[in-house]
Amino acid sequence: MEKETMQDFLESLTGASVREIEEYASEITSNREFHSHLEENLNKRSRYCGSWYPSIGTGLGTVLYVLCRQLKPYVVVETGVAGGMSSSYILCALEENKYGRLYSIDVPWEETFLFETLFGV
Ligand SMILES: C[S@@+](CC[C@H](N)C(=O)[O-])C[C@H]1O[C@@H](n2cnc3c(N)ncnc32)[C@H](O)[C@@H]1O
Repeated sequence: MEKETMQDFLESLTGASVREIEEYASEITSNREFHSHLEENLNKRSRYCGSWYPSIGTGLGTVLYVLCRQLKPYVVVETGVAGGMSSSYILCALEENKYGRLYSIDVPWEETFLFETLFGV
């Protein structure tokens, strides 16, 4: 996602200023500890369940982080965890907020793999 598109999206959704968005975004992009934990743990996870699903990537992860920092939600519900990349960004924001809870829902990976193999969905 282009930086300007991301900023427009976040501005219209949250009412945050460009400066606020940039501050929150740099909070997570400069968090070395977060990124090294992410790399280490996502590698472990993909060894466990394979790598059929793409993760959201760092750009959309940053969007999720900024959304949660700006909106300071009490509850976040996530469907589709896979290796946990989006969960990690959300949880990092909630921890920084010192507020909020994440409920993540997924299905056993064997079932999604079976559905994809049998029905192509
Ligand atoms: C593209 S991956 C999610 C990527 C993840 N959000 C990330 O950023 O790393 C899609 C996930 O959706 C899950 N999924 C598929 N159908 C589902 C359903 N009906 N309910 C909950 N999760 C589902 C799959 O098992 C898979 O883990």
